[in-house]
Amino acid sequence: MLQTTMSRRTFVGGSVVLGALLTSVRFSKAFVAPSLSYKRKRIANIRDLKNHKPVMFNYPDKDSPAMLVKLGRPAIGGVGPGKDIVAFSALCTHQGCPLNYSKVRFVCKCHYSMFDPAKNGQTYQGHASEWLPQIRLSVDSRGNIYAEAVEGLVWGRVINILPK
Ligand code: FES
Repeated sequence: MLQTTMSRRTFVGGSVVLGALLTSVRFSKAFVAPSLSYKRKRIANIRDLKNHKPVMFNYPDKDSPAMLVKLGRPAIGGVGPGKDIVAFSALCTHQGCPLNYSKVRFVCKCHYSMFDPAKNGQTYQGHASEWLPQIRLSVDSRGNIYAEAVEGLVWGRVINILPK
């Protein structure tokens, strides 16, 4: 008869490794949010931005509101000299309500979900369980800021661009 045994130390060690693996998979935005490229679009110029004064635009199509904001501190995926300019979909990932920017966070007035623009749009309060789709940006030599891709799915869609 085959008998298997496992020491307590092996069991605990294996559980810790498995837990760490599952945690990294669950919370890795890169794993759950593929980056999808779309037509490049100019949004603003660096010289026109002021800290915490968002610029609204639409991306990747005209029905997708988005927000560009200069945070005044480095952010994940940030562009510009201070790596502090980021952009996100402006639709809450819970039920699609429009978001406001307030004091270095995106806030949903419907059920008060909050998202951190310095950390890939991570949700940290409220009903929303998905992070905000982040819009990948680039800057040319003249300081023009462009949207180039969306990391994640815009709320309410099965694809990011609506069929015409
Ligand atoms: S729609 Fe934003 S929290 Fe519910």
